[in-house]
Amino acid sequence: MAHLSASVYTSHVPAIGAALDLGKSAEPYWQPLFKGYEYSKQWLKDNTPDVIFLVYNDHATAFSLDIIPTFAIGCAAEFQPADEGWGPRPVPMVKGHPELASHIAHSVIQQDFDLTIVNKMDVDHGLTVPLSLMCGQPASWPCPVIPFAVNVVQYPVPSGKRCFQLGQAIQRAIKSFDEPLNVQIWGTGGMSHQLQGPRAGLINKEFDARFMDLLIHQPEQAAAISHIDYVRDAGSEGIELVMWLIARGAMADVNGGPPVELMHRFYHVPASNTAVGHAILKNS
Ligand code: DHB
Ligand code: FE
Repeated sequence: MAHLSASVYTSHVPAIGAALDLGKSAEPYWQPLFKGYEYSKQWLKDNTPDVIFLVYNDHATAFSLDIIPTFAIGCAAEFQPADEGWGPRPVPMVKGHPELASHIAHSVIQQDFDLTIVNKMDVDHGLTVPLSLMCGQPASWPCPVIPFAVNVVQYPVPSGKRCFQLGQAIQRAIKSFDEPLNVQIWGTGGMSHQLQGPRAGLINKEFDARFMDLLIHQPEQAAAISHIDYVRDAGSEGIELVMWLIARGAMADVNGGPPVELMHRFYHVPASNTAVGHAILKNS
């Protein structure tokens, strides 16, 4: 059977992708940020899974106000990097895993979560920047990736609690796949940031530290944070953090298993308008 070995959490700021693509990662502004991912890149090399289930949000790139899926699972064999206005990022095409993705869609829908099945989709910085942070600039990504898009752009967006429960359902789905695959789940987006309006530029280090503490040690409490609290404390785009709760809900300790192990934790401000948070948790 397939098993879920670890979860990775990271912000997805588009300027990080641009810094890498334009050869600026060694500049003083970016150097401390990329340093925080050195451990992670080596860890991923040493612990390359067979498949990454990557929870991210589309930023009105593949979807628009015409169609707004709350949860969308990418079941295609491949996904191209999207053109977000400056041409597609010069990063590898993303290979999917249609068999595992279809199985997860089937299992999770049977567990009463309504997913949109997507067989054709370009993937934006929400997905490619986390891959770049964790893998650097390889000729191809180290394994297949199942894109799982969450609507955190247009209200109503799903609650943290529902995302956490969805993670639990995804974990059951992975465990019931009849092939011995090693799967990682990544939760991306966040941390505190606001891109528009009078509070544009908002960062809340205290909220971010507390969120990471709760996420790691008391995830049910992190899952209880309401939309209004995210908006008030973490800014309008801080709501992206609900995606971290999908990954956290899939870990063994919250599904009757042994405690998880914290492999790495990192926090850095600034990166463009966003506080960057990152953690790796391992199932024992
Ligand atoms: C920024 C952050 C985001 O999460 C995003 O999707 C776009 C821009 C930023 O900080 O610039
Ligand atoms: Fe974003």
